[in-house]
Amino acid sequence: MLPLMGRGLGVTAGLAYGGDYNPEQWDDDVCEEDLALMREARVNLVSLGVFAWSSLEPRPGEFDFGRLDRIMDGLASTGISVNLANATASPPPWFSRRYPESLPMRRDGTRDWPGARQAYCPSSPDFRRAACALTAAIAERYRSHPALAMWHVSNEIGGHNALCYCDVSAAEFRRWLRRRYGDLDDLNAAWGGVVWSRSYSSWEEILPPRQAPSPPNPAHVLDFRRFSSDACLEVYRAERDVLRSITPSIPVTTNFMVTRFVRDLDYWDWAPEVDVVANDHYLDAADPDAHIELSFCADLTRGLASGGPWALMEHSPGAVSWQPRNVAKAPGQMMRNSLQHVARGADGVMFFQWRASPSGPEQHHSAMVPHAGVTSRKWREVVDLGRALGRLGEVAGTELSAEVAMFFDWESWWALETRPRPSVDLRYLDVVGDFYRAFWEAGVTVDVIARSTDPLPYRVVVVPALYVVDVGAARRVAELAANGASVIVTFMSGVVDESASVIGGGLPGGFRDLTGALVEEFHPLRENEVVNLEGGGTAAVWAETIRSDGAAAVDTYADGPTAGGPAITMREHGDGAVWYVSTRTDRAVTSRVVRGALARAGVKPPIPMVTAPAGLEATRRSGDGRSYLFLLNHGDETAHVRVSGHELISDRPVTGALGLKAGDVAVVREDGG
Ligand code: GLA
Ligand code: GLA
Repeated sequence: MLPLMGRGLGVTAGLAYGGDYNPEQWDDDVCEEDLALMREARVNLVSLGVFAWSSLEPRPGEFDFGRLDRIMDGLASTGISVNLANATASPPPWFSRRYPESLPMRRDGTRDWPGARQAYCPSSPDFRRAACALTAAIAERYRSHPALAMWHVSNEIGGHNALCYCDVSAAEFRRWLRRRYGDLDDLNAAWGGVVWSRSYSSWEEILPPRQAPSPPNPAHVLDFRRFSSDACLEVYRAERDVLRSITPSIPVTTNFMVTRFVRDLDYWDWAPEVDVVANDHYLDAADPDAHIELSFCADLTRGLASGGPWALMEHSPGAVSWQPRNVAKAPGQMMRNSLQHVARGADGVMFFQWRASPSGPEQHHSAMVPHAGVTSRKWREVVDLGRALGRLGEVAGTELSAEVAMFFDWESWWALETRPRPSVDLRYLDVVGDFYRAFWEAGVTVDVIARSTDPLPYRVVVVPALYVVDVGAARRVAELAANGASVIVTFMSGVVDESASVIGGGLPGGFRDLTGALVEEFHPLRENEVVNLEGGGTAAVWAETIRSDGAAAVDTYADGPTAGGPAITMREHGDGAVWYVSTRTDRAVTSRVVRGALARAGVKPPIPMVTAPAGLEATRRSGDGRSYLFLLNHGDETAHVRVSGHELISDRPVTGALGLKAGDVAVVREDGG
């Protein structure tokens, strides 16, 4: 067994650094230069050939590996490891022409045309056959190549095509439902088929929730979403199994999209199927606090990796090319974003992409080697980042530990936002994000956990808009409170069961006894309506009529439709306490609830944030008797932090106070572990 320190992902020494490398877009002399530049930047891993299908198999069954052979050899002789794609992300034009039924279908029954990447139905047997054949050909060719370190299956599977409504998908959906329910009567009961006369008399009548004259059944939609995530996972598994059969000892990954932009895949189901959890993360240029969202996604990815090492497989060196306004990164921001992921457990920092594409839809996307070439600031920053990551190699394999956990549940995201719903302003990520931000600002690390995870080890647990809840999850949260933890439950938690049926006996059925607060009625607020709270703050989006059943009011609605009634309640359970927050409270109020829960549970941040200026982020990674304090200054004043140890990026000792300028990052190997 290798020592923990420096092991990390197990595919490179120290931290992995590099990006998507698409050499089929350039001539040999450019690729020669690439190798020299990669060496200069200390790149040690590239994701190669992600979109190379039409270059590798220009005609059905006719393979051409000559160019890829040379690239692989060049990388091997430069000492760069390869995360080799099986190149199935974008079926070539010949494939779509030959198999027009493989094209994905939208909800309204129109088919997408070929013409861009990922133009396939996840359930298409023709696609699966062709993809597995290509995978086998690549794996056979490179199985013993010295550069091969890891397999990169497809690319962001389901990113564009997760929900396919075609007849092939319909047949697969029915098979999936038969496995789930076995009996048609059970399906009818679970779905509430009697409502609107939707009881099925034969399996063949069941279709995907295609465009219909009136709103769909939420249970039908939820199962279709589960099926669609599983159908994409089947594509991954089929390709992965080909790789495993040919190279059993090479790790296999695929890049997840844990981001606010994509919600179609339930990655809790996917994570156990990969050898290395890898994520792609892109900032939302319109979000002024995108660095907090970045932390959340990194924490969620670490959760998917069960706390172990994971790879940031893609982020952007600067602007992306697919948002309405593709804002470039400020000087130093690329370093800060990169090390923020490392601060939260990433053992690899990779980019899309190595060299900017002259043509194609991503020609205006930033790259490590920009159109401006190597006399640019971007390139200097790429080299600096490579040097910094090299110096941080010893943190690879160390882990974070947290006393706070927050549930994250794709099913709740799907179900809460399925129309018809009580308010279009109910957005799952808003509720999750509000509470995450409050912990972030309190400087406390949060583990993000699945609904199926036992939260017992944590001192503080947040249940934000956990709309779908099963009996087991509700019981585990209740046990937690009985054990002395602080629990925060928000509105729209525990409302429906796994069949999207309202849990009986009064809302919120899943957590009613635990919170001691019975919701008599929902009061969605009007657009932009704000209500005042007696405690001095405000709230928006939502209000509720609450009848206390053992809980005390912590704050009360001062006006609005529920004036005079409780807005936030608290119920003691021995040493534990459960807060119920019935509305979307403003930042100060949310922060007060969170700090109250932290104080009661005695949870403190890694450095005292009371003295730290706003925007300072601190995390600690440790293992094997060493510990590393990551400090990132997202604010605009210098931060002074008391630390003692060795700062790794500048490679110098620090004793006493460290001054961290606005925008800067420090990583301190702490004295005494
Ligand atoms: C109409 C329909 C009812 C019901 C209500 C809901 O009146 O006839 O079946 O859907 O709308 O507001
Ligand atoms: C995704 C894809 C990449 C590229 C980037 C651009 O992450 O996986 O191929 O398109 O977006 O931001």
